[in-house]
Amino acid sequence: MNEFMSKTKVNGTAAPHAQINNGAPMGGALSIKHVSKIYDPEGVNVCAVDDCSMEIAAGEVCMIVGPSGCGKTTLLNAIAGFHSITSGEITLDGDLLCGPGKPKAAQGADRMVVFQNGALFPWKTLVENVAYGPIVQRRMSKPEALEKSYQMLAEAGLGDFGDKYPGEVSSGMARRAEIVRALINEPKVLLLDEPYRAMDALTKSIMHESLLETYDRTKVTIFFITHDLEEAIFLGDKVHVVTTRPCSLKKTIDVTIPRPRTYESLSSENFRHLMAEVNEAVHEEAVKAFQAGERELA
Ligand SMILES: Nc1ncnc2c1ncn2[C@@H]1O[C@H](COP(=O)(O)OP(=O)(O)OP(=O)(O)O)[C@@H](O)[C@H]1O
Ligand SMILES: [Mg+2]
Repeated sequence: MNEFMSKTKVNGTAAPHAQINNGAPMGGALSIKHVSKIYDPEGVNVCAVDDCSMEIAAGEVCMIVGPSGCGKTTLLNAIAGFHSITSGEITLDGDLLCGPGKPKAAQGADRMVVFQNGALFPWKTLVENVAYGPIVQRRMSKPEALEKSYQMLAEAGLGDFGDKYPGEVSSGMARRAEIVRALINEPKVLLLDEPYRAMDALTKSIMHESLLETYDRTKVTIFFITHDLEEAIFLGDKVHVVTTRPCSLKKTIDVTIPRPRTYESLSSENFRHLMAEVNEAVHEEAVKAFQAGERELA
C-alpha cells in the first residue's frame, strides 16, 4: 500500500477529515456564453476560441477534452483572468467575470489554477508554500496559516512531508501539495490544466484517488483539461468535448457512473460505452485538426 492509500480510502467516506464545507458546494457555477478569443500577434489574427458556450454547475467536475492546440488553455486563461476575451461573457455564480465592457476578468482567489508544470517555490518547504497565499493576503496570521497548512497537507496524505522542500519529494507529492496550496484559499473553482500529463500510470492513479477524495470533502467546482480520455471519464461528472481550433463545444457527455468511483468502475460496461462515445467525438476532431495541418503544410 502506498503512503497515500494508507491514510485515505479511495473516494473515501471513512477517513476522518476536517471538513472544509461539509461536502456541500459553496457556489462555483460557471457560465461561458458565446466566448470568442482572437490573438493578434504582430497583426496576424489567430482565432483560438469561437462562440464557445458551456454551463458548469456549482460543485461539478467538468472535464474538457479536445485536440492539441485547439484553444482549451486559452479558455482556462480567460476564466482565470490571465487573458482577455474578444467577445461573449463568462460569469461565476451570476457575477460577470468578463464580458461586454470588461474584456479581462480580475484574477482572484475564487478561481485557483494548477498547471501541468509545477509552480511551487523551490526555496520554501511544502508547508511554507501552502501557507504563503493566506499570509501575503493577510487572511491568516502566520501561525494560523502554518497550522492550517499542516492540517490540509495531512488530509492529502502528506502529513510527514510538510517540512520537505519540493525538490525532496516525488512529482506526485509536489502536485498534491500544489492542489492543497490552491484549496487553502477556499476557491469556488479549481482550474486544472493537464496537471498529471507527464506522470506514469501508477502515479496518475494515486493522483486521481487523491483528487476524488479532495473533491468529496470540498465539493469545489473543477474545470479540468486533459488529453487522457480514461482520466476524463473516471473523474468527471461531465465530459465536454471541444472542436479543433477554434475551440467551441462539440458534445457534452454525462458520466453516468455513480460516485464514489473505484478502479472497478473502469472495467464496467458503462465505462467502456462512455469511452467509445468520447473517443469517437474526439477522434473526429483530431482528424479534422490533422487534415487542417496538412492543408497548411501543402
Ligand atoms: N499568446 C498567444 N498569442 C498568439 N497565439 C496564441 C497565444 N496563446 C495561444 N495561441 C494560439 O492559440 C491556439 C490555441 O492555443 P491553446 O494553448 O489555447 O491550445 P490548447 O488546446 O491548450 O493546446 P494543447 O492541447 O497543446 O495544450 C494555438 O494555435 C496557439 O498557438
Ligand atoms: Mg493547453
